[in-house]
Amino acid sequence: MTAEAQFPAGFRWGVSTSAYQIEGAVTEGGRGPSTWDVFTGQPGRVLNGETGAVACDHYHRYAEDVALMRELGIDSYRFSFAWPRVQPGGRGPANPEGLAFYDRLIDELLTAGIQPVPTLFHWDTPQELEDAGGWLERDITERFADYAALLGERYADRVPHWITLNEPMVITLMGYAVGAHAPGRELGFGALPVAHHQLLAHGRAVQALRAAGATSIGIASNHAPTWPASESAEDLEAAALYDTLINWLFADPLLLGRYPNDDLAAAMPGPVAEDLAVISTPMDFFGINHYAPVSVGAPTGNADVAATDGIPLPPGLPFEPRTLEGYAKTDFGWPIAPAAFTEILRTFADRYGDRLPPIYITENGCSFDSVDDQRRIEYLDGYLRALQEAISSGIDVRGYFQWSLLDNFEWAAGYSQRFGLVHVDFETLVRTPKASYGWFRDLIAKQRAVQ
Ligand code: NOJ
Repeated sequence: MTAEAQFPAGFRWGVSTSAYQIEGAVTEGGRGPSTWDVFTGQPGRVLNGETGAVACDHYHRYAEDVALMRELGIDSYRFSFAWPRVQPGGRGPANPEGLAFYDRLIDELLTAGIQPVPTLFHWDTPQELEDAGGWLERDITERFADYAALLGERYADRVPHWITLNEPMVITLMGYAVGAHAPGRELGFGALPVAHHQLLAHGRAVQALRAAGATSIGIASNHAPTWPASESAEDLEAAALYDTLINWLFADPLLLGRYPNDDLAAAMPGPVAEDLAVISTPMDFFGINHYAPVSVGAPTGNADVAATDGIPLPPGLPFEPRTLEGYAKTDFGWPIAPAAFTEILRTFADRYGDRLPPIYITENGCSFDSVDDQRRIEYLDGYLRALQEAISSGIDVRGYFQWSLLDNFEWAAGYSQRFGLVHVDFETLVRTPKASYGWFRDLIAKQRAVQ
């Protein structure tokens, strides 16, 4: 990056991962089954029938992975606790072996001078809770608050920053509305309570973590601009509805204490006004995961599944994601459009004003299948310039976490999409740093040198 692309002093540099995508060891150390263990066991759910049973075997190789992080020069590491490792059935006392694993990981990080930034929930719901209704039931919000309290009490003295949930939109849409992710439900708009219960669980967890002594708490929510497919009234209306559902349905309750419109509020279960007061409990930072913009138009009856990662949406929806023409694409088919990154940050700053706490970019990255991954370098270079532009325009962004340290289990796409700075051979589990690893290491070092 050039001299003008300097980040503010104290800017945090990190990488992100999640438990089910890297840990493996799914039946070891007293871990209970999660929805993803069950889902991946069902034929046809994941490309080539792949599962996270071994993944990167990080459970056994965490020390090697922390060494890779130390050499990379990052100061922060975002990972997730596997809820079924900590509480095998999602309730009751902690599993000592599960906590012992996270003790080892956290201590290894601290010894390496890296701040642990754990996420409490990155999609691996304990199956026992799912059997009781999962995120459709209000009870899970209490269970999540207990789980948060337990972790807060154990780790608040060693863990500076906490993240409650990862991408509540994706669980709602992919997990419960269209069924492409665990638990594979296809409820369409009937999935809306899942959004409300996750938001409420988040608010309760913020309160529980704070009571346990945690001082810096946020969420990791995915956001991207929705670009209307054309200027026609129909396309504009379809795109606005889509934008409301994927972006503001989640961010407005958290930051403004209200749903974006009365229809959505009316679709939610429980004492919604009281819940919104909990949901909007002030946070210390807001984590944004960003990858690519979406193009959306009115339904044509001829939806292109390439626009939804090959996943067919149910018929009859009032909008249709479209393939964005005129942009280079990652191996996953996602358009590379750094200007959309600056745009979504600007939209957040304008929409929320002084209700918006400092932002961290909790995920950003791309899938390219190469060890000499010049295209990942180009992607990251473009997106970091776009981020720097947002910061120089006055938006308060405090850190950037690249997704991901390692190639890993990419959900319904199995091991076919490689997002890592480090290549993983899934036969031998050998790790090989890619060209982008060296590039990111040099970038961090240069940024530190000029501060
Ligand atoms: C979002 C998710 O949080 C993460 O689990 C996933 O692997 C990346 N984005 C890439 O799709």
